[in-house]
Amino acid sequence: MVIGLLAVTAIPTVTGVSLGVVEQRKQNTRMEDEKRMAKFHIDVFCEGNSEKAMRLNRRRGVLRDNKVYIDHADPSLRKQTAHTAAAFYIGYPDDNQKRGDGLVSTISDNPPMLNWIYVDKNTMELKYGNRTQSIEHIVGHWDWTEDEAGVILDKKELWVAVEEEDDVWALYYDQNSDGLTGFVDPEKTVVEISICRNLIDKPEGGNNSDQNQT
Ligand SMILES: *[C@@H]1O[C@H](CO)[C@@H](O)[C@H](O)[C@H]1NC(C)=O
Ligand SMILES: *[C@@H]1O[C@H](CO)[C@@H](O)[C@H](O)[C@H]1NC(C)=O
Repeated sequence: MVIGLLAVTAIPTVTGVSLGVVEQRKQNTRMEDEKRMAKFHIDVFCEGNSEKAMRLNRRRGVLRDNKVYIDHADPSLRKQTAHTAAAFYIGYPDDNQKRGDGLVSTISDNPPMLNWIYVDKNTMELKYGNRTQSIEHIVGHWDWTEDEAGVILDKKELWVAVEEEDDVWALYYDQNSDGLTGFVDPEKTVVEISICRNLIDKPEGGNNSDQNQT
């Protein structure tokens, strides 16, 4: 756990990510922890061939105003300033750790700060916040698909992008797999997407040629 511990405690202004997290990971092997804590960009993979789906493909999870949006990977193309999420998995510190791993992301680089990414149980929007803000919502178990490339929650890939305004896309969890009936205005465009772990520090010797630069 040495690496993980340093990674967390070396950041002076971690908000909401308590040291209890570190404690509960002690049983896990160090290798496993390091792998779970490898930071990634949250990138959209969209199979649809509608114009909107194609536009969304390869966009990236960004954070602003306590919500997760999907915007251009290149910050200079974004219409609104946002922090590019750099996320990783770590045990969520609830009372008996029954919710498994949470998803943490940087929310600013200077000062370096981390928050939990969670699904608002009332709206199905993906948001970020500290433990107090997130604990009553859906905070885990976050995992990866078998090939470790896709991001899943509660063993499922139920991600959708909702066009909240013209070409402003927010990330939602389609818990009932019904296109968010009852949660979003039916006039709005809802596109099924996958979200992928695009590792920021590529594994040594790795040669993943389709990785985006930042
Ligand atoms: C969590 O965030 C809320 C809203 O920003 C803040 O009022 C509260 O003090 C924070 N709690 C902790 C423990 O940092
Ligand atoms: C990675 O792939 C590129 C292009 O396919 C190749 O030129 C390069 O030598 C590869 N690098 C490694 C470390 O395998």
